[in-house]
Amino acid sequence: MITVTTIAELRVLLDAHRGNGHSVGFVPTMGYLHDGHASLMRAARVENDVVVTSIFVNPLQFAEDEDLSDYPRDLERDLQVCDEAGADVIFAPTADEMYSRPMSTVVEVPEMAKRWEGASRPTHFAGVATVVAKLFSIVGTCSAYFGEKDFQQLRIITTMVEDLSFPIRVVGCPIRREDDGLAMSSRNIYLEGDQRAAATVLNRALRAAIGAFHNGETDGAVLSQLMASEVTAEPLAALDYAAVVRSDDLTTARTVDDTNRLIIAADVGATRLIDNMGLGSTTPL
Ligand code: PAJ
Repeated sequence: MITVTTIAELRVLLDAHRGNGHSVGFVPTMGYLHDGHASLMRAARVENDVVVTSIFVNPLQFAEDEDLSDYPRDLERDLQVCDEAGADVIFAPTADEMYSRPMSTVVEVPEMAKRWEGASRPTHFAGVATVVAKLFSIVGTCSAYFGEKDFQQLRIITTMVEDLSFPIRVVGCPIRREDDGLAMSSRNIYLEGDQRAAATVLNRALRAAIGAFHNGETDGAVLSQLMASEVTAEPLAALDYAAVVRSDDLTTARTVDDTNRLIIAADVGATRLIDNMGLGSTTPL
């Protein structure tokens, strides 16, 4: 496994691989890697000759009052996770390498970026789309692996790739969870004491709604209310949203079916947590 820090070096390396007929699998991350990230690399490993993982905490996607400076970092441990997951190339640029001057050109994101996460974090998805577009341009033709954990992000990136005809195949991968159902996240490290147990409320709310759906409930408002009341019953959690949405454009689904998605976000202490599940999901943990 090799670590590359410059855009020029990565381009030369990956062009040479493609010239030799090798397929490239790409996993963009912000580091502080856990098994959710590793699962994306394992999926990329199975399908490609070369696996590239980027580790870059992207300032553009953090608002002024968010946790950019506190965002957890541990490059040494990350390299170990990448190695074990079978990555070949790590791209770990500095902020100067990625943004040598303030950006004059940014990606404007589709309508769906205004909803849900976008309502609470209005500049977030433009920052994500801009860095991902830049990374796609640097990495070149590849299959790119994203987690369903950030379902709205996955849909926005897929739409961007279609709209702008990037030579990229976007692959969505299932959410990896802790044994008690909490979706793995780099930010789980922020959870202190009782907050860690309280954080499982998102998973419990999703499972309650899936259970009700399997028992015949098809009213999206009833399922949303069910999720909301689970979260409200947890004193350490503050609900942001709980909804049933169409999986393509994330608009609210009124009468639901198994193609729809349950999405939920809540604060536990100062930590914002998100989770989601497909209503067609048969293993609801
Ligand atoms: P980050 O939060 O580090 O996540 C990198 C990738 O790992 C994303 O595709 C995310 O959905 C996936 N992931 C995170 N937790 C997961 C879990 N529990 N199971 C499965 N996949 C999981 O998402 C970002 O970084 C950034 O926005 C990025 C796309 C890198 C742009 O800066």
